[in-house]
Amino acid sequence: MPNVKRQIYMDNAATSFPKPPAVVAAMVAFMNDVGANPGRSTHDRSVEASQIMTEARGKLAALFNIPDPKRIVFTLNATESLNTVIYGFLNPGDHVIITQMEHNSVIRPVRHLERSGIISVSVAQCDKMGVLDVQGLKRLIRPKTALICLNHASNVCGTIQDIAAVRAAQGEIPLLLDVAQTAGALPVDVQKLGVDFLAFTGHKSLYGPQGTGGLYVREGLVVRPLKRGGTGSMSEVDEQPDFFPDQLESGTQNVVGIAGLAAGVDFVLETGVDRIRRHEMQLLSAFVDGTVDVPGVTLYGPLKVDMQMPILSMTFDQALPDGLRVTFGGCGGRSIPATFDSLHPHEAGSILLDKHEISVRVGLHCAPLAHEALGTLPDGTVRFSMGYFNTPEDVEIAVRAVREIAEKREFFDEDR
Ligand SMILES: Cc1ncc(COP(=O)(O)O)c(C=O)c1O
Repeated sequence: MPNVKRQIYMDNAATSFPKPPAVVAAMVAFMNDVGANPGRSTHDRSVEASQIMTEARGKLAALFNIPDPKRIVFTLNATESLNTVIYGFLNPGDHVIITQMEHNSVIRPVRHLERSGIISVSVAQCDKMGVLDVQGLKRLIRPKTALICLNHASNVCGTIQDIAAVRAAQGEIPLLLDVAQTAGALPVDVQKLGVDFLAFTGHKSLYGPQGTGGLYVREGLVVRPLKRGGTGSMSEVDEQPDFFPDQLESGTQNVVGIAGLAAGVDFVLETGVDRIRRHEMQLLSAFVDGTVDVPGVTLYGPLKVDMQMPILSMTFDQALPDGLRVTFGGCGGRSIPATFDSLHPHEAGSILLDKHEISVRVGLHCAPLAHEALGTLPDGTVRFSMGYFNTPEDVEIAVRAVREIAEKREFFDEDR
């Protein structure tokens, strides 16, 4: 058994934990009782595996109000979904707009294409709360703008963008919406929002396992596949099928993961996105209320629950006694010198884990431009991210821990 202590888990923006028991049960049932490849053979097990895939697509289509479930393809994660659109939809000479809140899974592929001389990229600015300047984005539009990549909600500070305003500003230009942080935790209706490409991950608020995700492509849009290979269909031809989902789903799929994802989506549909959202808003509200007035702590994001996912990023400024310079053993065995007037996020993360048994994520969270907007470069933030399984008691403990760290009590403790 893995050696993991009981802790308060507040790293749900990375991946959700725990998973609903039905997710684990569905995966065990697949491994024990089904086990075959979907869409390849006519025996019962293969038919059952295909059925699992079809049902999973149907559940996701219901959650996102997607008219045709076949327009959903399964991927390994949101990163693969985003890469599929960026590499498969854009053409030489195209211009792309991204925002400062994008994850590296958007920044890196578009910059790679830009450095290769294939596309040009503009970055729409966000304010200090992470809110996109929609009019600024509109001014970046050129005749060759072929795609706008937009993160529905920041994984750094939780800021939710106003998709309707972006949609109104961008006219007919296709929208690639990254819902890694919102799928399952905030209503996402592709028809109402006017989304052309929806990139989602399965392992966060859809409560599936790691290695699951998906992409919705609106009817009529053409995406070249990242991978070509066996699909179980049209085996006699040496060209990739041109129909969905086969066109973008080559090779044996992660059916055990998708069985778990389907159970996770069931959990979301049965619990209700509204109920999940209400609970998570209550947790965020209590966390903000408990920490907003702590001297030496800076909170990031709108700090208004209706504009923010249950993610609270903070820095510990002026946490050390004046003139004290010490070197801490930071995360990953690195020694991090503390500055005169702030506590490095890595050190705060270590204290939270070692002394308070709270798991968080620290640093830049794979989104460096977001920190540029927030003013938290180069060290980043301490990020508490809550999920449906966190409780008000977890938040109380986390608030106490933040207050203690800010009051410097930790530094006078003999044990450290
Ligand atoms: C906003 C955002 N986009 C994309 C990703 C990448 O997701 P995945 O790890 O599933 O590829 C993440 C993950 O943290 C994210 O928060």
